[in-house]
Amino acid sequence: TPRLFSGMQPSADSLQVGNYIGALLQWRQMQQTHDAVFCVVDLHAITIPQDPALLRQQTRRTAAQYIAGGIDPEHSVLFVQSQVPAHAELAWVLNTITGFGEASRMTQFKDKSAKQGSDATSVGLFTYPVLMAADILLYDTALVPVGEDQRQHIELTRDLASRFNSRFGDTFVIPKPQIQKATAKIYDLQNPEAKMSKSAASDAGVLWLLDEPSKTAKKIKSAVTDADREIHFDRAAKPGISNLLTIHSVFSGTSIGDLEAQFEGKGYGDLKKEVADVVTEEFAPVRARTLELLDDPTELDRMLTKNAERASGMAEATLARVYDRIGFLPRS
Ligand code: TYM
Repeated sequence: TPRLFSGMQPSADSLQVGNYIGALLQWRQMQQTHDAVFCVVDLHAITIPQDPALLRQQTRRTAAQYIAGGIDPEHSVLFVQSQVPAHAELAWVLNTITGFGEASRMTQFKDKSAKQGSDATSVGLFTYPVLMAADILLYDTALVPVGEDQRQHIELTRDLASRFNSRFGDTFVIPKPQIQKATAKIYDLQNPEAKMSKSAASDAGVLWLLDEPSKTAKKIKSAVTDADREIHFDRAAKPGISNLLTIHSVFSGTSIGDLEAQFEGKGYGDLKKEVADVVTEEFAPVRARTLELLDDPTELDRMLTKNAERASGMAEATLARVYDRIGFLPRS
């Protein structure tokens, strides 16, 4: 069975609906047919400043949401990145074959560093995509299910893998991105031209998996739409309505075409009310299960360390192969 690898940053207490639709829903489905490895990428999270106590809490909460969202930690591997040292070790090696210009062209880095200014931007943020390449390549990954915003990072991963292979001999599997066209980008409710993001300047456009249902419903009812009255999908002319239709369609299982027919002659208020219903219905059991899992952090931590051992076994084998190819002495 082909290997699957993916991860999320523990950069907030809750996932937002873009993470849930763009990534977690795919993960849940694909773990049935693939040998799946899922990571909470805390090494990535510290590329911007994090409060230590909050980071620890967010890491547990992110793992709990993976499980509550349907990832089975007995079947798939579900672990925390910093508990498997091979990630940082392979990242170092890959840093040495990454061009400075190549890394400078990463658009996420350019966006984030432009916001922060160059003195506030860490070198860690600059090499963030190289660490991501290490994550993926350590597990002989064939497929990486992600949202659209990660496409360029996976392109870089493929380039680095091929470069290493041609310089040192066949070592890495070349991975492919798995991006679901219709749901690869969920937009901010207040600014439907921009992707929904955990780090959005305003909270009003972000739907959090763990929010109170009443809060979620309120945000959906205040979503930005347009001056027209027609409910139909048109990404360019009606970004707000198109985003709401996408979210409805994913959770209700109704096609966009059927939704357009269903809402013919109805108003934006009717659409928003239904979207609020399907979203809160979807979130309710996941939220309840997450809170239940967080009631017993000791058990959660035990599950994570056990899974880190499983991941280490896989990752160490790849790292040993890499070290040998480069010409490092054997470790033992
Ligand atoms: P992160 O934590 O920003 O996001 C986690 C996943 O959610 C997807 N996503 C979205 N999908 C659709 N619409 C949105 N608005 C939206 N926002 C986020 C992301 O595409 C991602 O799949 N660099 C990664 C984490 C990472 C990783 C990896 C992923 C580290 N190593 C190895 C895959 C493989 C990131 O910051 O994701």
